[in-house]
Amino acid sequence: MTDLTINVAGIDFANPVLLASGTCNYGEELRALTDLSRLGGVVSKTITPRPRSGNPPPRVVETAAGMLNAIGLQNPGIDAFIAHRWPVLQALGTRVIVNIAGDTPTEFAVLAARLSELPGITALELNISCPNVHAGGMLFGADPAAAAAVVTAVRHATRLPVIAKLTPNVTDITAVARAVADAGADAVSLINTLVGMAVDVERRRPVLANVTGGLSGPAIKPVALAMVWKVRSAVRVPIIGIGGIATARDALEFLVAGASLVQVGTATFVDPDAGRTVVEGLAIYCRDQGIHQLRSLVGSLQTGR
Ligand SMILES: Cc1cc2nc3c(=O)[nH]c(=O)nc-3n(C[C@H](O)[C@H](O)[C@H](O)COP(=O)(O)O)c2cc1C
Repeated sequence: MTDLTINVAGIDFANPVLLASGTCNYGEELRALTDLSRLGGVVSKTITPRPRSGNPPPRVVETAAGMLNAIGLQNPGIDAFIAHRWPVLQALGTRVIVNIAGDTPTEFAVLAARLSELPGITALELNISCPNVHAGGMLFGADPAAAAAVVTAVRHATRLPVIAKLTPNVTDITAVARAVADAGADAVSLINTLVGMAVDVERRRPVLANVTGGLSGPAIKPVALAMVWKVRSAVRVPIIGIGGIATARDALEFLVAGASLVQVGTATFVDPDAGRTVVEGLAIYCRDQGIHQLRSLVGSLQTGR
């Protein structure tokens, strides 16, 4: 029997495969289509202090190897989340990481403090990397000092493990990773989407009402892998790899490059069962290769000659 378990930031995960924020909502829809209890966990859609209706449509468009989205953090707000969504998430039989965003570090801290009162949350993921909002979001994640300020505020507000979710839309992601690790983040997750755009040539207009959106899916996997590998050599905190993961081999690439956990996002829109299939594929790979502990592969990349 292969051991797929891994401990990250003091938490035991049954396996390293999570579903990414915004691609599994709060579990209600997917639980009828796949067995979420087979996953290492799920990450909730971002929660903000107040309800948000998001950006006007069109807000998603398919691209050659992925999709662009400009949802704009649509969510019911923290009060409705606690009342109606958390009970559903808690009953999924898997670990739940709650993803949060605010316009200021104080708003992040207030959300963290409120969520800390709920029993059963595994960790908080800080969305300092959304490219589709005009305040907060990527503005925090693109600046090491601003990113650190958010983590510091949250660190003082909660004892839950804190994961900072990083944006790839920066010159040097390692500078931001170092800043959030120094500020007390227990782990970093990367990457959020890359800013992109699609043009309707007949109408001479952008396809997305927001003009730009976030690119995700297979197209971004090589970018994400390179960033995981770079961050791995810059910080000691564990890394959660995200970006274009659709198969067990994709997940393995991230583990070997240095990720301790991975998140499956856009692939779930193609196949709602994608996360579970990745878990099964990891077990099969380990069995075929004679690997007893999957975690032994983490960071095993050889770059020398
Ligand atoms: C439709 C959609 C909505 C998303 N919403 C969120 C969100 O609310 N919060 C967040 O941190 N990331 C959000 N993301 C980003 C994903 O969690 C993930 O970082 C990104 O899509 C890259 O992974 P993938 O290529 O596997 O999709 C969203 C992505 C998509 C496609």
